Amino acid sequence: MRILTGIQPTNVLHIGNLFGAITPAVELQKENDLSMMIADYHAITVAHDPKALHESILLIAGAYLASGINPTKTVLFQQSQISAHTELAWILQSVAYMGETKRMTQFKEKSGDKQDSVSVGLFTYPILMASDILLYDTQIVPVGHDQKQHVELARDLAQRFNKTYGNIFVVPEPAIRKQGARLKSLTEPEKKMSKSAPSAKSYISLLDDKDIIYKKIMSAVTDSERLITLEDRREGLFNLLTIFSLTTGRQADEIANEYAEQGMKVLKESLCEAVFAYLDPIQTKMRELLNNPAELKQIIQNGSQTAKMQADAKLKQVKKAIGVTL
Ligand code: ADP
Ligand code: TRP
Repeated sequence: MRILTGIQPTNVLHIGNLFGAITPAVELQKENDLSMMIADYHAITVAHDPKALHESILLIAGAYLASGINPTKTVLFQQSQISAHTELAWILQSVAYMGETKRMTQFKEKSGDKQDSVSVGLFTYPILMASDILLYDTQIVPVGHDQKQHVELARDLAQRFNKTYGNIFVVPEPAIRKQGARLKSLTEPEKKMSKSAPSAKSYISLLDDKDIIYKKIMSAVTDSERLITLEDRREGLFNLLTIFSLTTGRQADEIANEYAEQGMKVLKESLCEAVFAYLDPIQTKMRELLNNPAELKQIIQNGSQTAKMQADAKLKQVKKAIGVTL
């Protein structure tokens, strides 16, 4: 199977990104053709600091590799190095309907009441994402729940294009895990964990040290019921049990039973240890990689060369199909 996923380089990566997108891809790496993209052209759709963007590109590459992506097996590449992405996005903008893009929940959320003053790029962003996916004959796209609608748009555009111009694109499907695809904010558990949240207390960053992890988990919002139980309606607690399960590989209900009588504080203390034990080797590896940016850059360049060959070949077929090739 051909699999592709991507993350935007913004200066924070949190455990939602890790469990929603990175670890599911790492698990699929062995048996499939995997591509891991650094979605840097998506990151410029909102105001950004060029120096911070530059650093974040390396940070994402470091996170991919430290989490188990093997660059000799998987194509790790940078979106902006391959002009076919933006070129196909232009072509697909002529296939997509205004109504379709207007419906995207993420655009509505990110633009809020400022729809007239956000960038046009923020609005057309899902179309660039569709070209990321369609250029590589991607069958499966592992993402967190919030990206499902964007992958569905990529499906619709592929089907419409194929119907109009011939069978050029593979129709992709989102792969959304049952657990970990929608980790919640630690401070407002009714919302998703997000790097654009106003408070850093709401997420656990991949590079948070032990003290910070401890502070954030101990102050995570839960409820005042005495027993520990695994129930959807107890959103804060449910989220903590989910994180406990993801970082230990144990079943969430089994963890809830074990801590049933011990109370929230004891559960949170054990969770801190579990999260730290899980992140510690990833953090050590990430720091090691980030200390050697030349090597990281080389890996990204090599992967991007491979990706470019695949993408250019696909774009050639598309241009022929729409009639512009002489
Ligand atoms: P954010 O929403 O924090 O800005 P991105 O939009 O860059 O994160 O998301 C990168 C990847 O991480 C996507 O696949 C997205 O679905 C996934 N993801 C983001 N937030 C979460 C979350 N809270 N739980 C699970 N997956 C998430
Ligand atoms: N839009 C995705 C996000 O914000 C990142 C992304 C860009 C992506 N292109 C992609 C994810 C292609 C999967 C496939 O998280």
